[in-house]
Amino acid sequence: MILVTGGAGFIGANFVLDWVAGSDEPVLNLDKLTYAGNLETLASLNGNTRHVFVQGDIGDSQLLGKLLAEHKPRAVVNFAAESHVDRSIHGPGDFIETNVVGTFRLLESVRGYWSALPEAEKAAFRFLHVSTDEVYGSLKKEDPAFTEENKYEPNSPYSASKAASDHLVRAWHHTYGLPVLTTNCSNNYGPYHFPEKLIPLMIVNALAGKPLPVYGDGMQVRDWLYVKDHCSAIRRVLEAGKLGETYNVGGWNEKPNIEIVKTVCALLDELKPRADGKPYAEQITYVTDRPGHDRRYAIDARKLERELGWKPAETFETGIRKTVEWYLVHGEWVRNVQSGAYREWVEKQYKAAP
Ligand code: NAD
Ligand code: TYD
Repeated sequence: MILVTGGAGFIGANFVLDWVAGSDEPVLNLDKLTYAGNLETLASLNGNTRHVFVQGDIGDSQLLGKLLAEHKPRAVVNFAAESHVDRSIHGPGDFIETNVVGTFRLLESVRGYWSALPEAEKAAFRFLHVSTDEVYGSLKKEDPAFTEENKYEPNSPYSASKAASDHLVRAWHHTYGLPVLTTNCSNNYGPYHFPEKLIPLMIVNALAGKPLPVYGDGMQVRDWLYVKDHCSAIRRVLEAGKLGETYNVGGWNEKPNIEIVKTVCALLDELKPRADGKPYAEQITYVTDRPGHDRRYAIDARKLERELGWKPAETFETGIRKTVEWYLVHGEWVRNVQSGAYREWVEKQYKAAP
């Protein structure tokens, strides 16, 4: 049995679905079901005895103690987090609560369980912490991609809270010997992505005839990885990663935001043309920039390839086409996760540029 936290969110749910499809080992899935957690994503696992879902908080030590004692997992994969930069600007409190305090409490619960295990199980145990490249801060145009040696220079409340959690995980290894692994991945995209993030938001807004808000000049660069490739990297690190090490995960797909938005528009023009025959790109609207907006992220994933033989299966072209196709046939999933109150705030915050 493995314990996955945050397994009803975007990446966690993709991980759980892939795990159950590819392994006989059961998954205990602990998720608080915040706005970002969605059991509908896991509906295909209803009745499957290899998936046990529990609604709860990673910071609930009593619940964790009980679950660990009862299910005796051999590993924990920690996805649970508040994950959206704009929300962290809007209200950083939840980010500190879950990403920092929650991770601390989870580490303590796991340490209590792990230290009482028999020697062989103790040695085989793994705590894999899923983190982001945003902890390294922002790159200049001419800078090389982030390696595992880069300094931590987080700039947003989100990235600062994730950086703090990475440091806690590191310290629990150095101080208590907890067998940890950390992955720092670039921007993900793919099925079940909450439509507050760039790619799904553009698809959903385009289809609804709404503006496609591009922050600032749209020349900020992100490095995109198809979510299933992130999941395969996590499985590989869990299986063969060196204890206490961190691994950068990415697919060498640096693109400016405006190019991403235009690519999405072109795919929609092909797959679901607008009723009036005009291009979706007409909906692109430049809006005020995000406060403290990081200019560029880029991941050097050579360590993971060299040491553990991992490579992504998708190119950006194949992954983005699959993603757009997925959203075209999952309109109901999208309608069910959209939240009115948050969109109102975003629309007020990001007004069209004069
Ligand atoms: P998400 O927001 O889609 O999902 C997060 C999940 O965690 C949700 O199901 C939510 O209900 C759950 N959760 C939140 N607080 C919780 C708590 N206190 N206890 C238990 N569950 C809780 O996020 P995501 O995009 O799937 O990201 C998953 C992880 O991967 C995060 O740690 C994130 O920092 C990291 N990451 C994300 C990306 C990306 O591009 N999305 C890239 C690199 C790393
Ligand atoms: P996002 O998906 O929020 O991920 P992150 O901030 O973690 O990289 O944003 C990706 C990029 O797209 C980022 O540079 C901000 C930009 N962006 C827009 O231009 N418009 C939008 O409506 C959103 C949500 C993001």
